[in-house]
Amino acid sequence: MTSLSVHTLRCEYRTNPIGIDVEKPRLFWKLESRLQDVFQTDYRITAALSEEGLESEAPDLWDSGKVSSDQSVQVEYGGPKLAPRQRVWWRVEVWDSHGKRALSRPAYFEIGLMNTAEWQAEWIGSWQFGAPKTQAPSHLLRKSFNVDQPVVQARLYITSLGLYECTVNGKPVSEDCLTPGWTEYRKRILYQTYDVTPHISQGENVLGAMLGDGWYCGHVSWLPRQFFGDRPKLLAQLEILHTDGSYTRICSDGSWTCHPGPILENDILMGETYDSAHEKPGWNLQGYKEDVHWLPVEVFPVPDLILQGQIGEPVKRHELIKPVATSYVHGRAIVNMGQNMVGRVRLTLHNQPKGQTITLKHAEVLNPDGTLYTTNLRGAKQQIVYTCKGESIEVYEPHFTFQGFQYVEINGHHGEIAEDTIVGIVMHSGMEVTGHFECYEPLLNQLQHNILWGQKGNFVDLPTDCPQRDERLGWMGDAQVFIRTAAYNMDVAGFFNRWLQTVEDSQSSKGEYPMYAPLASPNPTDADGGPAWADAGVICPYIIHLCYADKRQVSDRYESMARFIQSMVDAAPNLIRVDRDRGGWRGFGDWLSINAYTPEDLIGTAFFAYCLQLMSEMALAIGKHEDAEKYKAEHERVKSAYVEKFLSGESPEALTSQTGCILTLHFHLCPAEMRSVVSDALVKDIESRGMHLSAGFVGSSYLNDALTSTGHLDTAYALLNQKTWPSWLYAVTKGATTIWERWDGWTEENGYQDPGMNSFNHYAYGAIGDWLYRTVAGIDADPLDPGYHHIIMAPQPGGGLSHISAKLETLYGTVKSSWSVGNGAFTWEVEVPPNTHATIYIPGTNAKHNELVIENGTLEVGSGRYLFTSSV
Ligand code: BGC
Repeated sequence: MTSLSVHTLRCEYRTNPIGIDVEKPRLFWKLESRLQDVFQTDYRITAALSEEGLESEAPDLWDSGKVSSDQSVQVEYGGPKLAPRQRVWWRVEVWDSHGKRALSRPAYFEIGLMNTAEWQAEWIGSWQFGAPKTQAPSHLLRKSFNVDQPVVQARLYITSLGLYECTVNGKPVSEDCLTPGWTEYRKRILYQTYDVTPHISQGENVLGAMLGDGWYCGHVSWLPRQFFGDRPKLLAQLEILHTDGSYTRICSDGSWTCHPGPILENDILMGETYDSAHEKPGWNLQGYKEDVHWLPVEVFPVPDLILQGQIGEPVKRHELIKPVATSYVHGRAIVNMGQNMVGRVRLTLHNQPKGQTITLKHAEVLNPDGTLYTTNLRGAKQQIVYTCKGESIEVYEPHFTFQGFQYVEINGHHGEIAEDTIVGIVMHSGMEVTGHFECYEPLLNQLQHNILWGQKGNFVDLPTDCPQRDERLGWMGDAQVFIRTAAYNMDVAGFFNRWLQTVEDSQSSKGEYPMYAPLASPNPTDADGGPAWADAGVICPYIIHLCYADKRQVSDRYESMARFIQSMVDAAPNLIRVDRDRGGWRGFGDWLSINAYTPEDLIGTAFFAYCLQLMSEMALAIGKHEDAEKYKAEHERVKSAYVEKFLSGESPEALTSQTGCILTLHFHLCPAEMRSVVSDALVKDIESRGMHLSAGFVGSSYLNDALTSTGHLDTAYALLNQKTWPSWLYAVTKGATTIWERWDGWTEENGYQDPGMNSFNHYAYGAIGDWLYRTVAGIDADPLDPGYHHIIMAPQPGGGLSHISAKLETLYGTVKSSWSVGNGAFTWEVEVPPNTHATIYIPGTNAKHNELVIENGTLEVGSGRYLFTSSV
């Protein structure tokens, strides 16, 4: 084996994507080598129209030539302008600092339809029967057509307002779920592209689609149904390429027919009702004769929105979970999945009578008497109703809904519940798990598990607050506090590329970012998310750039972010954001803090300053030097106003709450000489509460950072290890398998808290995960050389932890940090991936690498594996 290889070729963060609408797709690859200190000196990308074309000396699309550069991520395709439908085969050859060379295997990407002019399909759906606002059965839509020429390839371009599932000759076109997802439907909708070549046969073929209400016309949040539209609509264009270069196009149009199907009701929040008596066997297969009784579809006017190829990965089924126990309470079976999960169940029934109706209810937790606790679901029914066919085995999985649950109550089932009756299907957007954190303290390991599961359960197409009650919205505040943790746990670049487009699409004409995106609210004031919520529009692109060196995210969002900043400037003539003396909407404050109050204008002004600082850094990153200076100057002015208003006088307001101190320290808002005064006030408050935090969503995410950066590592660890509430471990000691919305979601003293606001799967307080990776394990990115091209490795052991082991799969490869402490000795194993370099900060004294003394405990290293020791 040669010592260098190049692999994991990706385009737009995806492996061999098809149907992308990107003018200059970005390419990525990873190097692997057994040698130390490996970096790429040159690369050469070749691109051709066919895989074989890559073998040619002069590939027919593009040859970058040998480029002297270490860039191996975010490399823009530089070939000729890409045409709709164009497939590009590419590969890369690399040279490294040891004089080695490696050639990758071929990869490809394929352009989508690119612009609306390429769409010949029409929007179709069923006729509306019954009163508006009531649930209508999901309709089956079908089109039979003939193919009589040899087929080279077939692509299905498809989307819907509402949800769709599609088959070609009875075969599902993909494993994706809940497509096309939820975007700002009034501006943009994503379409998916599927390679259906193997499904097409000579002679008759049938396209069959089933439509669901989804977010478009089902319930969203607490609103009545049909907020965006009255019924689902489908747009589908099947393009079959023949050997002579001609195309057969089968487009959704008035020639399709429709009929109500077995799904009588479907709704993301309410669940699904399925009556197998209404099945139409063979409806999506060739030779179906009954369609003479079907109605033609209705054709709708073309909506005024942008159709864009899929960004990131759609939602998929990722894991199966088997129940851990079944109990019988008041004669009802309650199945415990052992994990608070998000997705749905697969129901397998044995010998149930024909026409028997089985009802499944879902809940996250139980009442003390063992029944389901459902009051925290508010208006979301989360109920599945299935009426049986009466076969010896029947299997049913709901189609257009998902639930957040750990327990399933089964009603109407004849006889004992079998082992396979219920299987949990875990669904979330496609994101590779990239992080791993583990230590010898089981409660902390469970905390990390809960953080990851909070992420899985709430990254279902968009980052939601919760997955169970009648809410499930893309709350901006929650997303911004958690994004950095999220980017450790999983590769969320594509996921956020997608959602941040929606955030921009939801921006108001005044430049405000909303409370949640997409914005589904009849209330125009919700267009302003307020402090720490609206700011997600600036913070999230910054973090995506920091973790993935995603300059395009910054430049694409730049104009929108600048408008947002301007809206804050305009609304704050005295530089105090949401000034309490000016009245009006002041935001959510430090949401769900415990017995503490932080003034909203303090939070507002602190985040105003923070956004200006991030804007200045982002402007610099994309070469807008003048803007960078402008934002920097504005940042200084807002900072001074903050100091003047919140940090001056006898008893400065910023010192009266943990969150006031935290924001002052973390955003560097006070003069350097004041930091110790502020951090002392913070520690004093924590101590006065018996070593407990009081901060809510806004402050708690930076709490341990604020302590660590001011020399209070012990206090930070004490909070991490605290087991009584409010604390991160409290819920863990109560058996939680996800992160709770509230510090006091359930307490011994009071039982369940405010049922209107008590989710057991809310990721926001999981933001401590960032501190675990960044400070405990010591793996950090450098804003000046982002994407972990330059890695900062600076673990800070403490808290009685004897050992930790962490890994992060970056765009370049794996970073590892494992340390142990014992008998005054610190031992640290580090791995740095090829084509990156790291600054190593060894804690303690007497730092050594392979017995060599390291001055100041600091050194620069290239890729490779290292063992460091010191005395602590
Ligand atoms: C959501 C939160 C959100 C908040 C705004 C809640 O209903 O669940 O997570 O950020 O409203 O304060």
